[in-house]
Amino acid sequence: MSRFVKLMLAFLLIIGLLSAMFSGVAVLLIGDRVLTEAQNRVDSDLNAAQEMFDAYADRLFDLVRLSADRFYLRNALLANYPETALGELIGTMLREELDFLTMTDADGVVLLRAGNPGTSRDDQADDALLASVLGGGEPAVAASVFAADRLAAEAPLMVERAALELLETSAARPRDEAVETSGLVLVAAAPIVDYEGQVIGCLYGGLLLTRRVDIVDLIKETVFAGERYQGEDIGTATLFLDDVRIATNVLNADGTRALGTRVSEEVYQQVVGEGRRWVGRAYVVNDWYITAYEPLRDFQGTVVGMLYVGILEQPYTDLRTRTSLLFVGIALAGVALAVVISYIISRRLSTPIRALVKAARRVSSGDLDAQVPVGSKDEIGALATAFNSMAESLKAREEQLKEFARRKVMESERLAVVGQLAADVAHELNNPLQGIVTYSHLLLERLPADDVRRSSVEKIATQAARCVTIIRGLLDFSRPKKPQKQLANLCAIIEECFSLVEARAAFHNIEVVRDYTERIPEAVVDPAQMQQVFINLIMNAAEAMGGAGRLSVTTRFEPTRGAIQITFRDTGHGIREEDIGRIFDPFFTTKEVGHGTGLGLAISFGIIKEHGGTITVESKAGEGTAFTVELPLGMAKGMVT
Ligand SMILES: Nc1ncnc2c1ncn2[C@@H]1O[C@H](COP(=O)(O)OP(=O)(O)OP(=O)(O)O)[C@@H](O)[C@H]1O
Ligand SMILES: [Mg+2]
Repeated sequence: MSRFVKLMLAFLLIIGLLSAMFSGVAVLLIGDRVLTEAQNRVDSDLNAAQEMFDAYADRLFDLVRLSADRFYLRNALLANYPETALGELIGTMLREELDFLTMTDADGVVLLRAGNPGTSRDDQADDALLASVLGGGEPAVAASVFAADRLAAEAPLMVERAALELLETSAARPRDEAVETSGLVLVAAAPIVDYEGQVIGCLYGGLLLTRRVDIVDLIKETVFAGERYQGEDIGTATLFLDDVRIATNVLNADGTRALGTRVSEEVYQQVVGEGRRWVGRAYVVNDWYITAYEPLRDFQGTVVGMLYVGILEQPYTDLRTRTSLLFVGIALAGVALAVVISYIISRRLSTPIRALVKAARRVSSGDLDAQVPVGSKDEIGALATAFNSMAESLKAREEQLKEFARRKVMESERLAVVGQLAADVAHELNNPLQGIVTYSHLLLERLPADDVRRSSVEKIATQAARCVTIIRGLLDFSRPKKPQKQLANLCAIIEECFSLVEARAAFHNIEVVRDYTERIPEAVVDPAQMQQVFINLIMNAAEAMGGAGRLSVTTRFEPTRGAIQITFRDTGHGIREEDIGRIFDPFFTTKEVGHGTGLGLAISFGIIKEHGGTITVESKAGEGTAFTVELPLGMAKGMVT
């Protein structure tokens, strides 16, 4: 996997994680927000419903209060003929669509019942509402639960309306009974006073709320204004007696009103049990709603039922789902965009680098024409430019080298030809020169000592001898002889050399200092060739010292390397730095024309190399020179004598 792919994957991973995190948080927040909004709405809807319910109660309150003030009731009471008011009372009840309207005396004993004219004289003084009105003279209105017998007493018609068959639904609170016979009623009571203001009786009347769907429908119409979602009404309102729906527009699965169904245990506990409002999700009959329940209390404050409003949760969950999907979609789109962008970026980054890698491979396999396109002005562009110029200069360098090598080859070929030619010429010249030397010496022998021609013939002899030396050197160099190796004592060879040269004039003022290690082993060498090497070194030293100075010779045995070191150190003029690299070249000489061939060191180098040794030089111009020859013993080390 390339570095770019890794980089891009890491980048995508981060983006993916971030967007997952953000959309997750957003979805949670939105979901929460949507539900909270819905709950707030239901909460205020319940307030509106409560006000409408209160308005109902207030209307009843006003009605009963005003009716209690009517003169015919007062007069009938004062005249002790309550029956005379019955007609009026029934009239009022029917006109105002009340379910019952009853008049008592000041002790709470029933005198007249519009809803059930047949029964009277029963004592209702223990009804808390009546007791309060009779006691304090203030009219009041409150919800109340009438048991079946009370309903039957007040108005027999109510018994049937109040009876509700209890229906089972999935989340309903369990109950033993199968039928609800009590009724939730809204009762208002007002005192009837005489002309002095004395309470002489009481008028109470009210409505049976069971099956009074007009109230809940009105609430629904007013609060939810016919809002619908997918063919269903969104809003619902219900009146409960204890836990039973007695007036509702929540529907059963079959489309009938869910009368006789019951609230869930959870809601019941909070609202009826603890008397606290419930706002939240609840399973109502057969669907989830966002609901609000308010306790309904009787005159004494006991919770006798509930007022409910609720809206279908579905629109909100759908909204939440849609918004969440939208967010997830946006996040996914973002990730997709990031994928595309990162792909483009990674291509833009990796393509030139791949091109570079390819070109670098071509260069390393020898194709110096490899170039990469410079696409951008950034670092990669700079890299490409640098690569191109590197390849170009490599190519130029290679061409130079090739040219150089070609020239070298040509040169050495030429040199080889010239060398061969020189060797041939030298060979051919050797014999005639020998003749010149021989005959010039013969001539010298025959000439009388005082002959004036002698000096000329002597010159011929010396010059010819010189030519012979040069030619021999040339022949030695061009056709080196195979060494004739034998065991020899190198110190003895050196001594021999000295004895050969010491007689020469150039040696008269040279002090030779010998420092021979005593037990130096013998070595396997060609003594004649070694002599040639040493004489050349000694003569070079003598010539460098101009005939006066000190030449020290040191011999050392190096047991670790199994080699003998011989050093010739002189106090001559030394070698200039720029010449030191060339002294072993053939024909390199600093000597005057006619005095040196420049072959001495070149031949010596060849001989020492042939013996498996080395020759090195150390020199300081003006101070002197030291040549060191190192020769291997050329045999088993054990042979040291
Ligand atoms: N001991 C030395 N001190 C200073 N220079 C030296 C010494 N030995 C060699 N050289 C330098 O090295 C050169 C080459 O020496 P080499 O022996 O090869 O040739 P040559 O002595 O000049 O000629 P030839 O040996 O043929 O007479 C000399 O010309 C000299 O300049
Ligand atoms: Mg020499």
